[in-house]
Amino acid sequence: MEHQLVIVLDFGGQYDQLIARRVRDCGVYCEVRSYKTPIEEIRRLSPAGIIFTGGPNSVYDESSPHIGKEIFELGIPILGICYGCQLMAYTLGGKVAACDRSEYGKTETYYDRSSVLFGGIHLPETATSWMSHTDYVAELPEGFRVTAHTANCPAAAFECPERKLYAVQFHPEVNHTFAGQGMLDSFLKNVCGCIGDWTMAGYAQTAIQQIREKVGDGKVLLALSGGVDSSVAAALLAKAVGEQLTCIFVDHGFMRKNEGDEVEAAFQDSGMRFIRVNAKEQFMARMRGVSDPETKRKIIGEEFIRVFEQEAKKIGKVDYLVQGTIYPDVIESGLGDSAVIKSHHNVGGLPDYVDFKEIIEPLRMLFKDEVRKLGTELGLSPVLVWRQPFPGPGLAIRIIGEITDEKLTILQDADLIFRQEIAKAGLDREINQYFAVLTNMRSVGVMGDFRTYDYTVALRAVTTSDFMTADFAQIPYETLAAAASRIVNEVPSVNRIVYDVTTKPPATIEWE
Ligand code: XMP
Repeated sequence: MEHQLVIVLDFGGQYDQLIARRVRDCGVYCEVRSYKTPIEEIRRLSPAGIIFTGGPNSVYDESSPHIGKEIFELGIPILGICYGCQLMAYTLGGKVAACDRSEYGKTETYYDRSSVLFGGIHLPETATSWMSHTDYVAELPEGFRVTAHTANCPAAAFECPERKLYAVQFHPEVNHTFAGQGMLDSFLKNVCGCIGDWTMAGYAQTAIQQIREKVGDGKVLLALSGGVDSSVAAALLAKAVGEQLTCIFVDHGFMRKNEGDEVEAAFQDSGMRFIRVNAKEQFMARMRGVSDPETKRKIIGEEFIRVFEQEAKKIGKVDYLVQGTIYPDVIESGLGDSAVIKSHHNVGGLPDYVDFKEIIEPLRMLFKDEVRKLGTELGLSPVLVWRQPFPGPGLAIRIIGEITDEKLTILQDADLIFRQEIAKAGLDREINQYFAVLTNMRSVGVMGDFRTYDYTVALRAVTTSDFMTADFAQIPYETLAAAASRIVNEVPSVNRIVYDVTTKPPATIEWE
């Protein structure tokens, strides 16, 4: 089934992905395209609407992204946001000037509710919008009228309904803009005529059909890590091509407690060929005497590829290799050919020796939360769908210093208790990543009448949106107390628990 399409034309703004997410939240399928997309391509795509994003530039900079006038002649509704709003005004003959005072943050905004964007939604005449600009539209192009203003911005929104052109200086996609989602929804439904036909059930159906057509009776190979993306990709492929799919799950032994079994159980009845390689002994042997974090990562990466290669060779020639690339990867790698380079990079060198015809990326157009929705739609276990990010080298980089069987067991047990307590407190979907670390430090304690000299376990929990920066999670003391008490009582060789209260930067999320 073909969905109505909206194009988010990317001018380099910081909220581009967010705009796309919000459009999809309205049930409308959209794709982010570069502002350089040729007009013929836009005509061919025949979108129901176009949204110009913000951008860091000033329209008067020569190097700024510009756009030809023809796009406004297509008869396709356009909404310009921030830089996109200024660009619309400038390109159509209006004037843009530097603000006396730039506006940043929450700004009191006066709306004219006779505008289709602002009427019919729960928006008072005065409400907060989120501004972030140093230029403003000083003079409108001919035929436009102002529909919102602020103390410092006389044209916070303007429009020419006859030409289906709309512009807002503020950011409706940001939560701080009161009723911003309603404004976007109104643009999509009432101006573009979108019906909101984008659902995960529909997506799954179409994707399965397309995969079947593409793969035919070919053989498909997937490296399953147990992470959300590769698990959902596996579930989708299994539904589409059943036993033509082989998933290889290399269990390096550094998974969290029971995790290897959970992954196996989730795919047992899926119809695909599922190969679990229990390679713990091999990995442990290579980790003996190793305590440097980067060396650990390197060894695990190499060994992973070696084990995968051995198994893949047994299958013989495959036609397709599946990758769990998701939309943010595609957008971040520049919306161009570079996306392909990154996807090769993602499989960690596998294409060099696994002989295959083509890569399939079935999640390429989905955001992370959509991947989770798809996983749920496909009936995948919540344990996998809601799995928090987990580093490839696993617990090996959460055991400081050399790894031993004893330390691995201690960490798996402590980590499980922490996860259970977080779930009990209902925080498991709120905190983005949380885990235990086995420090390489022992300290003195007392248990009964005896002196102990045992390990310190550190607990780490962070909230973050991009994993580039992070805050430590402000977990209730009761939850910390419950986890600490259970760990020291239930896990032998641990007598002290500390909670990591550093942000990233300067610390990283992982300890190694
Ligand atoms: P850091 O510790 O750098 O972590 O703040 C940021 C995010 O990346 C994950 N991470 C890794 N993922 N291989 C991976 O696949 C690795 O070697 C690795 N190191 C860190 C980490 O869990 C966090 O989500």
